[in-house]
Amino acid sequence: MLDKLQALESAALADLQSAQNEAALQEWKVKFLGRSAELSRILDELRGLPKEQRPAVGRRANEVKGALERAYQGRLEGARSAALDRTLREDRLDVTLPGATFPLGRLHPATQTLRQIYRIWAEMGFQVYRSPDVETEEHNFELLNMPAHHPARDMWDTFYTVDPGVLLRTHTSPGQIRVMRERAPEPIRVILPGMCYRYEQVSPRSEVQFNQVEGLAVGRNITFADLKGTLTAFARRFFGQAVNTRFRAAYFPFTEPSAEMDVECFVCGGEGCPVCKRTGWLEILGSGMVHPIVLQNGGYDPQQYSGFAFGMGPERITMLKHGIDDIRGFWANDLRFLEQF
Ligand code: PHE
Repeated sequence: MLDKLQALESAALADLQSAQNEAALQEWKVKFLGRSAELSRILDELRGLPKEQRPAVGRRANEVKGALERAYQGRLEGARSAALDRTLREDRLDVTLPGATFPLGRLHPATQTLRQIYRIWAEMGFQVYRSPDVETEEHNFELLNMPAHHPARDMWDTFYTVDPGVLLRTHTSPGQIRVMRERAPEPIRVILPGMCYRYEQVSPRSEVQFNQVEGLAVGRNITFADLKGTLTAFARRFFGQAVNTRFRAAYFPFTEPSAEMDVECFVCGGEGCPVCKRTGWLEILGSGMVHPIVLQNGGYDPQQYSGFAFGMGPERITMLKHGIDDIRGFWANDLRFLEQF
């Protein structure tokens, strides 16, 4: 019996040497240490041995069992660390390599300015109102106090469509009529953003399409002081509290009186530079008190109501802000231009 145990131990240990991985070791364990392994059978059969052999065989059998378990454990740890070394070697990751950057989209510079403008007017209680890009001649001109053949129509070079009386709006002002007709006689405070179209020779200074943000306030006691105060508040929020502004008399057929607002040139701080053409001022919008005829066309009695309106160009403001000297960059879809913002 003792010889048998000796042979079993040698055979098992020899066999263990050829088990190269965890799966093979597991198989080995079942074979030599499992429930139906020979060693287990010997231990089970101890009772059947003659009494005087029992202690020696029992002790030896337990020794063999302990030796096999220790040998197994040692091999298992060896196999695990070898496997770990291999994966560390084979799946090595060079964490010093620069990461792969992937292109991220971004908002168009005109959209960025537009959103900033929306936010400021929203804070001052102005809703956004949308009106169509394709307009009637009636809304774009007639109802804005420019009957057919009015010389002021020359202020806007117009794209007409093949349909008589239908055109691409040259400004967002026709939206004034649409809001008024929808809201009369309620008070109004809205901005009307959107694309405008002009039949212009494309050049660094003019494009055939550009955005405008129109503004309109109508109520019972709105004065020119409200216009000045509100537009000045806008300029301070947009350009900074310290910005200086000035109003110059201007002419638009749909406002009376009319004024253009300048802000102090933020490139040179008013000293005079190429951006402000050495004047120290930059024009950013046209405005005025809504003309009584326009109020009437919108359904408001000019004896009881008054209002102010304005129109600003987000691309122009963006150009001034970033010192962009060619308006064509906005719609040329050249990423080298767009990615700078
Ligand atoms: N619609 C005018 C333009 O396109 C701007 C403007 C809007 C002026 C509202 C006065 C009032 O130039």
